[in-house]
Amino acid sequence: MTLRIAPSILSADFGNLAQAIADVERGGADLIHIDVMDGRFVPNITIGIPIVAALRAVTTLPLDVHLMIIEPDRHIKSFAKAGASMMSVHIEVCPHLHRTLEAIKSLGLKAGVALNPGTPESTLEPVAHLVDFVVVMSVNPGFSGQAFIPESIQKIQAVRDLLNAAGNGAPIEIDGGVQPDNASEVVTAGAEILVAASAIYGTADSTLATQRLRKAATPMGETQALSS
Ligand code: DX5
Ligand code: ZN
Repeated sequence: MTLRIAPSILSADFGNLAQAIADVERGGADLIHIDVMDGRFVPNITIGIPIVAALRAVTTLPLDVHLMIIEPDRHIKSFAKAGASMMSVHIEVCPHLHRTLEAIKSLGLKAGVALNPGTPESTLEPVAHLVDFVVVMSVNPGFSGQAFIPESIQKIQAVRDLLNAAGNGAPIEIDGGVQPDNASEVVTAGAEILVAASAIYGTADSTLATQRLRKAATPMGETQALSS
């Protein structure tokens, strides 16, 4: 398993995003998670295509674009062109999920499926062999700074079992309420990509917070191996 820390810029200073990204890059971030919201699928409106393009120019880290929008098919090409490396769509708004995933992959991006807390993992079954990653939402999407929904732990395990049964080693991304105090639990359950907005940008030092989250998420044995 490869642990990846994905700071979400949703809690960063929007007037200074280049600096916000440089700070977490220095802290060893593996991806930059970008929360795109349309005020329809979720109550909030956040970031669009021009911002993704601008961020592409200020970092070499992969951009992980989380589309919380209705009719994502209409915008896949534009976000890909803007520089997304990974793109996740919500299963709740994709009547032709198979086609949507193929469209993302055909542009050379990693295709992910995101599941709201109220969406059962069984909905993934038809595409379990096809996905490049699965986003388990551990809050109801829309805002950063919400509390982790505890049932998400079983959901991670269930999604892992489902992917394994399909012979797919695709990683699970956990998104929402991830903090140093639950990081090792989500990793033990099977999450490999940890998204965090407030746990990183809600602190005084986002470089340090990125390092702390990785340390908290790293299983004991590996920490000892690293320090010995
Ligand atoms: C929630 C977004 C998350 C959010 C996480 O709607 O998809 O990526 O930024 O924020 P925290 O880590 O503060 O829960
Ligand atoms: Zn997100």
